[in-house]
Amino acid sequence: MTSESFQPIQGMSDLAPPEIYLWQRLEETARDILHRYSFREVRTPVLERTDVFTRSLGDATDVVQKEMYSFADRGGRDLTLRPEGTAGVIRFVAGQGQDAQDARLYYIGPMFRSERPQAGRRRQFHQLGVEAIGAPSPAADVEVIALQAHLLTAWGLKDFRMELNTRGAPGDQERVTAGLRSALASSQSVLCADCRRRYEQNPLRILDCKNETCRETVAQLPPVTDFMSPEARAYLDTVADMLERLEIPVTRNPRLVRGLDYYVHTVWEVTHMGLGAQDAVSGGGRYTLTLGNKTIEGVGFAMGLERVITALAGQGVKAADLEAPPVVWLVAQGDAAFEENLILMQSLRMRGVACGMDLQGRSMKAQMRAAHRTRSRYVIIRGDQEMERGTFQLKHMEDGTQEELDMPDLMKRLMPAKGLAISDTEEE
Ligand code: HAM
Repeated sequence: MTSESFQPIQGMSDLAPPEIYLWQRLEETARDILHRYSFREVRTPVLERTDVFTRSLGDATDVVQKEMYSFADRGGRDLTLRPEGTAGVIRFVAGQGQDAQDARLYYIGPMFRSERPQAGRRRQFHQLGVEAIGAPSPAADVEVIALQAHLLTAWGLKDFRMELNTRGAPGDQERVTAGLRSALASSQSVLCADCRRRYEQNPLRILDCKNETCRETVAQLPPVTDFMSPEARAYLDTVADMLERLEIPVTRNPRLVRGLDYYVHTVWEVTHMGLGAQDAVSGGGRYTLTLGNKTIEGVGFAMGLERVITALAGQGVKAADLEAPPVVWLVAQGDAAFEENLILMQSLRMRGVACGMDLQGRSMKAQMRAAHRTRSRYVIIRGDQEMERGTFQLKHMEDGTQEELDMPDLMKRLMPAKGLAISDTEEE
């Protein structure tokens, strides 16, 4: 094996300490907040039948056209590694019957897109997403947007910007398509090859093209909302008004379309200034999805956790600072003390104290070095004398002071250190 083969495949990463401490912190904070909003977790498989995605994301989207990891398994079934979370959650909800009509679900997990890897664009990345199932209601959209802002703020993200638009009411799509085709008719020849195809398939996708000439052409277009019904514009106005009352700052962007085609009515995207070209940290909207004979309506968003973490790191957040060191390190001189420490360590762990010790029988010096390395708050030292007296030397690592204690006093010292009531120690 060459050292190269120890690397994960391109565009995918191992998530390990110290970086993982920041992931854990984000997830803990998020679970607490999601609970406050009555969202419950769902874990759907990372592998789905390919049609779960092709039927819902839209044939003309980049994700379906060129980014899915699809393959036939040994039984010849056409499968895809999920490129996003909404379609799988809706498949789950569709199978649940009436009870799931107003489900409020969240998910945290890996997604897979076979994109060209570059800064901020991974082939395996992680999303935290929510889906609130239910019929269109501006208040439901606002609630989900408020939750998204709450999460980003609670994580400490600064300088993010949220843009808001509408994809129109369900009946508006034909009018928008016709309106855009006629507005773009004379510029067809300057569009890129992809956009010439999009012109036929779904001209709305042209608004999302990153090609410079296409962007210049799009900049000349009237806002898409001009082609939409008064109902769609009123819905968007209501959402914007309610957000203002909740003091959640948003900017209207009439050219925002989002990269997936299941959206109707409200769509939004959050960008962060410190991220460069791939600056979207979160995106969402209201959708209608039909799977089999079921049509499910809902509203949701998904945040790209790698991008949130990159943005936080850019603000100076250090993952290593979030590591929780052990409370106690046990050090033994001699075999008898080693064995007693093993028993004490298990008992402390059962009582909720994070602790550790050297298991190789190393010298006192090496054990103390390990204690320093782990940044433990206390060290318990036991040698022959302490064994005879039934005592422990408790060293406070912060100031280097040391005291000799018997078992009840040792427990009194250690239990409050991890927030347990002293009465918890009395069974000792
Ligand atoms: P999306 O905009 O495709 O929406 O993805 C959401 C977020 O995932 C993006 O804003 C970005 O932060 C992150 N992301 C996407 N692709 C990559 C990548 N290749 N590398 C790193 N991060 C990436 C959705 O997936 C919808 N399912 C959101 C939704 C939920 N809409 C309604 N409900």
